[in-house]
Amino acid sequence: MGKLLVNVFLVTFLVFLGHNVEGLGVNWGDISSHKLPPKDVVKMLQENGIKKVKLFNNDETILNALAGTGIEVMIGISNQLLKDLVNPDVAKKWVKENVTRYEPKSPKGVNITLVGVGNEPFLRDYKDTLTNVTGPALENIQNALNDAGLGDTTKATVPLNADVYLSPSWNPVPSGGFFRADIIDPLNYILKVLNKNKAPFMVNIYPFLSLFYGNGAFPFDYAFFDGVSNPLKDKDGVEYTNCFDANLDTCAAALAGAGYGNMTIMVGEMGWPTDGNNYGNVTLAEKFYKGFVSYLAKGKGSPRRPGIVEAYLFALFDEDRKSTLPGNFETHWGLYYDDGTPKFPLDLHGNKKTLVSVPNVEKLSKKWCVIKSDVKNFTDLMTYACDRADCTPLTNGSSCQNLNDAAKASYAVNAYFQNNQQKDDSCNFEGKATVTTKDPSQGTCNFTIGFKSLTSLSPSPSPLPSSDHSDVKAPSSSSSSTAPSTPKFLAFTSMGISFLVSLFFM
Ligand SMILES: *[C@@H]1O[C@H](CO)[C@@H](O)[C@H](O)[C@H]1NC(C)=O
Ligand SMILES: *[C@@H]1O[C@H](CO)[C@@H](O)[C@H](O)[C@H]1NC(C)=O
Ligand SMILES: *[C@@H]1O[C@H](CO)[C@@H](O)[C@H](O)[C@H]1NC(C)=O
Ligand SMILES: *[C@@H]1O[C@H](CO)[C@@H](O)[C@H](O)[C@H]1NC(C)=O
Ligand SMILES: *[C@@H]1O[C@H](CO)[C@@H](O)[C@H](O)[C@H]1NC(C)=O
Ligand SMILES: *[C@@H]1O[C@H](CO)[C@@H](O)[C@H](O)[C@H]1NC(C)=O
Ligand SMILES: *[C@@H]1O[C@H](CO)[C@@H](O)[C@H](O)[C@H]1NC(C)=O
Ligand SMILES: *[C@@H]1O[C@H](CO)[C@@H](O)[C@H](O)[C@H]1NC(C)=O
Repeated sequence: MGKLLVNVFLVTFLVFLGHNVEGLGVNWGDISSHKLPPKDVVKMLQENGIKKVKLFNNDETILNALAGTGIEVMIGISNQLLKDLVNPDVAKKWVKENVTRYEPKSPKGVNITLVGVGNEPFLRDYKDTLTNVTGPALENIQNALNDAGLGDTTKATVPLNADVYLSPSWNPVPSGGFFRADIIDPLNYILKVLNKNKAPFMVNIYPFLSLFYGNGAFPFDYAFFDGVSNPLKDKDGVEYTNCFDANLDTCAAALAGAGYGNMTIMVGEMGWPTDGNNYGNVTLAEKFYKGFVSYLAKGKGSPRRPGIVEAYLFALFDEDRKSTLPGNFETHWGLYYDDGTPKFPLDLHGNKKTLVSVPNVEKLSKKWCVIKSDVKNFTDLMTYACDRADCTPLTNGSSCQNLNDAAKASYAVNAYFQNNQQKDDSCNFEGKATVTTKDPSQGTCNFTIGFKSLTSLSPSPSPLPSSDHSDVKAPSSSSSSTAPSTPKFLAFTSMGISFLVSLFFM
């Protein structure tokens, strides 16, 4: 009896302390006007027990902060570099300077286990400019890794958008999955390289986009993990109750059809935004992530791919300087706000712990900028402020959509004011705005307070609502490879949704 109790205790203890969601990682993008110090972000990752991160670049300060932590790191190579990497010497130099230098095998080094060669290069919007260079670039990078003696622990792969595969309209089930005919040759090149080097196939899967592009036609519950009343039936009675499994297995079937039925599949991006759209709110994001993390924790996998699924959540932080061309939700993909505060509780390890904040963040004072009550015309100052700060919460379907025009203008000037670190002259707007200590937040609309950050990109002290409407929110070319990138969604519209919708209905 005593022994039994001890055993029960031990087992319970192990379950609660030792249980990690194997295979769970996070994407850490940095298209933000205000960044947190990488060292503090890494502390947060460690406290949360997050063991894998995926970067879209190879930023030196971020990599140095990750050194010696053992955290597995995926670094990224931008699409613009792919054509240069067709030259093996360039690839060799790249690996020497950007991988070998960090001593991936040393406990003091950066544990670089994956290199992403390009980002979603087969999007239709790239019009084939990258299709022929991606395979050779991948091959040269992996060869350089192999030559450097890193080939067994560092694998090169290509993060792909999910519309590289589909099911035929006459057989719209996962088992019918095949690769798009227009890219089959360059894809076969990549598959051959991946297979030869035992590297994983990587794909980005977004149930949110299925809803977004479904225009009401996509079954809501199918985007989550709580089961559906009307599962999708594949041959042999296999049933699909969520679109993640169906998507993953369509990929698996496409790989099998291409002759690589046992190639590892990793999910490069998977996430849910919290604003900027009817379906983008904290409640749904929390429901989605809870379902997905517990899906991962079960380790059950999908019907065709039973077992651990390795997946990277998208993303760690909101990134206010991403292009909103694909949708107003683009700046709201974070599990965390840009100030390092988690948006909702999430238990990553089945131990009842929840996400912890980034340490050492200094919030600015409890001060807001608002429009003076006698101001009637807000057009120009809103244009000015919203060109320089994130106003997406004001758009249709978003958290501040119900504000009246004056309150919307206040939201805009406050966003600008906080972005400028609350500098007095950034709340002037030709005398139309003023600072208040009374929180103007109302309902779901959060008038945020800024934080002391590493970089604040808009120093412009004296806002003059006029000529300069340069598009400062568009991502710079150096960071344009951060995903989800603009063209992905366009491609997804053209093809992905018809596939996903038909997958369920037909
Ligand atoms: C890198 O991560 C892998 C997987 O977690 C681990 O097995 C390995 O020991 C790590 N390497 C270093 C040098 O920390
Ligand atoms: C290292 O990586 C950066 C960013 O990808 C790139 O610009 C640079 O050329 C690389 N270094 C070498 C020697 O290739
Ligand atoms: C890619 O290569 C194929 C086969 O060699 C060729 O037919 C095609 O024109 C190339 N595409 C581009 C955009 O260079
Ligand atoms: C995949 O299958 C091939 C042949 O069936 C086999 O040689 C290879 O070891 C398998 N790879 C894995 C990772 O199971
Ligand atoms: C979140 O979005 C769903 C779907 O649009 C909606 O039903 C729900 O009321 C929203 N919740 C909040 C708190 O906004
Ligand atoms: C507001 O100001 C703008 C630019 O100064 C002007 O074009 C617009 O007509 C004004 N709107 C109203 C309602 O007066
Ligand atoms: C805003 O969203 C609602 C509900 O989704 C829709 O009916 C309406 O047409 C949208 N309005 C605009 C201006 O897009
Ligand atoms: C408002 O946003 C800030 C970050 O921008 C966050 O720290 C805070 O928790 C949010 N408050 C609410 C009530 O959502």
